Amino acid sequence: MAVEKNRRDFLGMAFAAVAAGGGLLSLGAMKKSWDPLPSVKAAGFTTIDLSPLKDGDFKVFEWRKKPIFILKKTSEMKKNELRDVKVSGSDYTVVIGLCTHLGCIPDWKPSEQIFKCACHGGEFDASAVNTFGPPPKPMVVPPYKIDGTKLVLGEEGPEYKKFLETSKA
Ligand code: FES
Repeated sequence: MAVEKNRRDFLGMAFAAVAAGGGLLSLGAMKKSWDPLPSVKAAGFTTIDLSPLKDGDFKVFEWRKKPIFILKKTSEMKKNELRDVKVSGSDYTVVIGLCTHLGCIPDWKPSEQIFKCACHGGEFDASAVNTFGPPPKPMVVPPYKIDGTKLVLGEEGPEYKKFLETSKA
């Protein structure tokens, strides 16, 4: 009789252990399927090293399939304390390079120091603030984090959060 009871206890514990293990495995599999794929995670961030840029350099990068305009301002270019990204003592215009009228990609005109949109003649100053034509607002500053001389696009660092707060005020 005692042998039969011990056998039942053992089978009960073995069954419970298998069920608990199975449950943990299922939870692990479910969490894995909820997490974004590594390729999706990586696609969300773009790191750009600003150190090779010289004063007046304008470059176009890509982040989440959108053009990103980066302009390293010269001392003659008007600073925009609210919008400029300050890295290692230099001021940069960093925006999503899409016109805020209907989404065309403006050109940088270095001789005039403006961004000009060929679609309907919209213009933006060197800080990508709309100054003429139909664009209703400045070009959008993407979320960024400053990491030394690098900019991590897609991550909201303290400077970007401060920009958001001050631009709302
Ligand atoms: S899309 Fe740029 S001015 Fe219309």
